[in-house]
Amino acid sequence: MITYRNDCRPDLGQARELYRASTLGQRRPIDDDARFGAMIEHANLIVTAWDGERLLGISRSLTDFAWTTYLADLAVREDHQRQGIGRELIRHTRAAAPQAKLVLLAAPAAERYYPRIGFAHMPQAWMLREDDVLV
Ligand SMILES: CC(C)(COP(=O)(O)OP(=O)(O)OC[C@H]1O[C@@H](n2cnc3c(N)ncnc32)[C@H](O)[C@@H]1OP(=O)(O)O)[C@@H](O)C(=O)NCCC(=O)NCCS
Repeated sequence: MITYRNDCRPDLGQARELYRASTLGQRRPIDDDARFGAMIEHANLIVTAWDGERLLGISRSLTDFAWTTYLADLAVREDHQRQGIGRELIRHTRAAAPQAKLVLLAAPAAERYYPRIGFAHMPQAWMLREDDVLV
């Protein structure tokens, strides 16, 4: 039985282990305690999936609960993928802020996932990355 919660924040060790077990840890600074800790601490909407005490998945977002939710990370443990947990995490994220549009940047491995579950591709989205120069 899988339980979904938005009233708890995994600790750094639990989060790091999950990110690693999902492969997302390869693309997030999980070994930088200060940076990864800030990512977990300052996200204001975290939905987690649990099998008892075992953390199976996470949806980590920043939201104003009224206009926009930025879904920064979605991760499901590799041995639990393709069982609907990712979709359910997004469903709970959306339910927590129903008026807000959900936006995200897809990782290369998940490019075909988001259209599959109903997301629209928006070619007018723009990004200023860490090293880009604001001119
Ligand atoms: C992407 C991810 C979160 C999906 O979670 P999941 O629990 O495996 O996905 P779901 O089971 O909810 O999948 C829903 C549907 O999408 C399909 N799907 C799952 N992963 C897919 C992928 N990578 N590409 C295309 N379709 C995919 C499923 O087969 C399922 O289809 P169905 O409705 O016909 O059964 C998970 O694969 C993951 O953690 N990947 C590694 C981390 C990552 O890249 N995260 C995304 C960061 S942007």
